[in-house]
Amino acid sequence: MQSDGKSGYQLMGGADTIRRLVEAFYPKVQNHPKLSPLFPPDIMPVMEKQYLFLTQFFGGPSLYSDAYGHPMMRARHMEFPINRELADAWLGCMQEAMEEIGFSQELKEVILHRLKGSAYHFINTPE
Ligand code: HEM
Repeated sequence: MQSDGKSGYQLMGGADTIRRLVEAFYPKVQNHPKLSPLFPPDIMPVMEKQYLFLTQFFGGPSLYSDAYGHPMMRARHMEFPINRELADAWLGCMQEAMEEIGFSQELKEVILHRLKGSAYHFINTPE
């Protein structure tokens, strides 16, 4: 795959794929013993925000900022104690979601690499 110069949004094929990714991802988060307690029972609003955010994060239209202002994503995660284990768990759910919706190995690696930077950056609590 020639990923140079293309946004993740383009590589994934746009908004519909991001929607499917988010819809595959959150049931895994909700089934994860360490992640699920952090999230509200009504996951729909979180899912919607994640759809807006990932669209923007991967180079699509700035849907999240248009609705909620500056993302400040690390700050928005400060109230949750995120350690390395939780970051890896989050990334693991994302990896499984990408497999479920049929991303190629190469696309998975590109997208995961970009998400890894953020996930580890959000770590705010030692083991
Ligand atoms: C490192 C592990 C992570 C954990 C444990 C985690 C956990 C959470 C939790 C508990 C919420 C709040 C849900 C709520 O009550 O509304 C949240 C919100 C959110 N997370 Fe994460 N997150 C992680 C990584 C990421 C990453 C890597 C991204 C994107 C690159 C991301 C994007 C978001 C977005 C967009 C929201 C909604 C923000 C808002 O309220 O506007 N998260 N996350």
